Amino acid sequence: MSTEQRPPLVQVWDPLVRIGHWILVVAFFTAWFTGEDEGLVHVYAGYTVGAVVVLRILWGFIGSRHARFADFVRGPGAVFSYVRSLFTRTPQHFLGHNPAGGLMILLLLGSLAATTWTGLKLYAVEENAGPLASLGAGPALSVAPVVRNAVAEEEAEDNEHSASAAGAESDGEEYWEELHELFATITLWLVGMHVAGVLIGCWRHRENLIRAMVSGLKRQA
Ligand code: HEM
Ligand code: HEM
Repeated sequence: MSTEQRPPLVQVWDPLVRIGHWILVVAFFTAWFTGEDEGLVHVYAGYTVGAVVVLRILWGFIGSRHARFADFVRGPGAVFSYVRSLFTRTPQHFLGHNPAGGLMILLLLGSLAATTWTGLKLYAVEENAGPLASLGAGPALSVAPVVRNAVAEEEAEDNEHSASAAGAESDGEEYWEELHELFATITLWLVGMHVAGVLIGCWRHRENLIRAMVSGLKRQA
């Protein structure tokens, strides 16, 4: 009986968005929990995250209507206005991502890309493996010598005998490892905020956004 009064459901999320999202969830947590293992599971989970992120960014330009960045990337004014409306009786409703969700998606994709890139650099420097191994001291390493020199100097002060070339090399590893861990941790915090945002959205709009990310269907109004 009540189905007649409900606004119709429409297809909002295409299969690439949905399947990509749930692959991302599994691959991200697999990578997170295997970070200390030095195993191939971590590397392949990381590659999976990287592949989904690259595909999703491309899809943001050529994908279906609500998958495009142009559909959900708004200015700070729209974000504040949406967040303010959440505290009123009639929160603004969007068929695609809301402006706050859109901002979070940009932050997540950026942080995931940085985590993957630093992971690839670390793999190249530490194991001489992965797609970036052949680049050697390419342009991406250009910031490393500054850090490496600083660490080597510090070490020389601490221990006069240990500031060898080998020591300086492992500092390059340390640099990428620190950076990789930093971005992985930032991403985890963003994911926590993302899930909190989704739950708040479900509550304020009285709609199951998680189910929508599975079926692709959302309420029209
Ligand atoms: C978003 C995906 C990823 C996440 C969340 C992630 C997370 C982590 C974490 C938490 C660590 C432990 C850091 C520490 O305690 O020092 C780690 C280490 C590492 N990651 Fe990743 N990572 C990701 C992608 C990658 C990729 C794509 C690669 C390269 C193919 C990679 C290669 C490594 C390597 C070589 C280590 C060091 C392992 C060791 O020596 O103990 N990671 N990662
Ligand atoms: C189990 C935990 C998670 C749940 C329940 C969840 C749920 C959702 C939902 C409901 C949306 C759609 C939001 C909307 O209606 O506007 C969404 C979007 C998104 N989520 Fe999650 N998410 C989770 C974990 C993650 C993780 C771990 C990542 C990345 C590491 C992630 C990245 C994204 C991205 C990039 C989008 C945008 C989707 C697109 O347009 O392609 N999510 N998520």
